[in-house]
Amino acid sequence: MLAVSLVGCSAWGFILLSSVSSATALNDDGLSLLALKSAISVDPTRALHSWLESDHEPCGWSGVACRGGRVTAVSLSNLSLEGYLPSEMSLLSALENSIGLITGLIALDLSYNNLSGPVPVAIGGLTSLVHLDLSSNYLDGPLPLSIAAFCNLAGVLNLSYNAFSGEIPPEYGNLPVVVSLDLRHNRLTGEIP
Ligand SMILES: *[C@@H]1O[C@H](CO)[C@@H](O)[C@H](O)[C@H]1NC(C)=O
Ligand SMILES: *[C@@H]1O[C@H](CO)[C@@H](O)[C@H](O)[C@H]1NC(C)=O
Ligand SMILES: *[C@@H]1O[C@H](CO)[C@@H](O)[C@H](O)[C@H]1NC(C)=O
Repeated sequence: MLAVSLVGCSAWGFILLSSVSSATALNDDGLSLLALKSAISVDPTRALHSWLESDHEPCGWSGVACRGGRVTAVSLSNLSLEGYLPSEMSLLSALENSIGLITGLIALDLSYNNLSGPVPVAIGGLTSLVHLDLSSNYLDGPLPLSIAAFCNLAGVLNLSYNAFSGEIPPEYGNLPVVVSLDLRHNRLTGEIP
């Protein structure tokens, strides 16, 4: 409950405790993607091979798109990736940059992989997400409540074909009507409110 109230529409997630950046260090978005890479234990097609700590920014990495120096899309669908979702991914949240533009992750597609475990509560920090597809994995635990507080969702919220269990939180009834919500093929009880 607390997590949701902290990531309301007017709040920009949380303040990024940025590391001291120098010209040679990988930026914070890159570091948070490296946390995802570390959480992937099996990458049979070497999809994350180009994700290197020695780069300055992740914008040239496969499956990564940037705008204004920030990561805006991560597309890693159908790559047989095995692993889990690390809470550090929330550091891709919306932030105001030096010229006052608010940028952050807009689209995250990890569908058709072999990801397991729960969705970290911290995903609620990704307040700029418009499109989230985690479908066709082995994710479990309760449906993440924090996702229901995303205010920019306008595309797909696809959590289908996983192993989520428990009640569908009533907060999911507050999602904008423009969102295609797909929760099929889980172990959920109750109805979409
Ligand atoms: C996944 O990739 C395989 C080949 O790599 C392809 O045959 C299959 O159609 C793809 N599935 C989806 C859902 O994209
Ligand atoms: C997921 O992993 C299991 C083994 O752990 C494997 O048998 C299965 O083919 C994998 N599925 C995909 C979609 O990679
Ligand atoms: C959600 O993903 C599943 C497969 O992972 C797909 O069959 C379904 O069409 C998707 N739903 C939406 C609303 O895009």
